[in-house]
Amino acid sequence: MKVYLNTPRLILRQFTVADVDNLVDLDSDPKVTLYINGGEPTPRDYIVEQVMPRIMQYYKELDRQGIWAAIERTSGSFIGWFHLRPNRANPDEIELGYRLKQKYWGQGFATEGSLELIKKGFEELNVQVIVAIADPSNAASRRVMEKAGLSFVEEFPEADDFLVVKYALRQQDYFGGK
Ligand SMILES: CC(C)(COP(=O)(O)OP(=O)(O)OC[C@H]1O[C@@H](n2cnc3c(N)ncnc32)[C@H](O)[C@@H]1OP(=O)(O)O)[C@@H](O)C(=O)NCCC(=O)NCCS
Repeated sequence: MKVYLNTPRLILRQFTVADVDNLVDLDSDPKVTLYINGGEPTPRDYIVEQVMPRIMQYYKELDRQGIWAAIERTSGSFIGWFHLRPNRANPDEIELGYRLKQKYWGQGFATEGSLELIKKGFEELNVQVIVAIADPSNAASRRVMEKAGLSFVEEFPEADDFLVVKYALRQQDYFGGK
């Protein structure tokens, strides 16, 4: 995976084990985890034992995909993360995702980082389709998907029958829209 990606206001870099506190802090805000797990913080032990090893595994196994820590260029602060990785339900699709600290919401950061990963996916990695999945009530996330060029595909029950929405952008539409 290329180490850095640059957007006008963000540096996207690889995670290191020194980012445990950043992840604990990010997931300690119930508003951040509201549409992920109903607003529960992620325990530090879980981040150390499960999340961080999975992130490191991405870097080993995936070719230039995975998860990027997002750093605000002006302050050097960790603001959250973006991922671009095979969709677990359908590895032919590449899934875009993002999670940012509340302090940074509403400033276009999620859209900015997403556009950079979408560009990488289509222009560098030659992926055929990029998808994103959200809780139907997560209006901010759905709006980011739209602003990044994805379109609503379907609503379907995921694990335990809770509904999710899926958005997608195909490579031909990405290039067709340029
Ligand atoms: C989803 C998330 C990443 C968005 O980040 P962000 O940097 O605020 O996103 P942007 O500023 O690029 O765009 C947000 C858009 O959603 C809109 N929005 C925000 N809250 C909204 C709401 N409750 N209803 C409708 N639109 C909303 C904003 O107005 C903006 O659209 P606009 O530019 O047309 O005005 C951020 O809210 C977050 O991290 N949430 C917690 C984690 C999460 O839910 N991740 C996604 C899981 S699928």
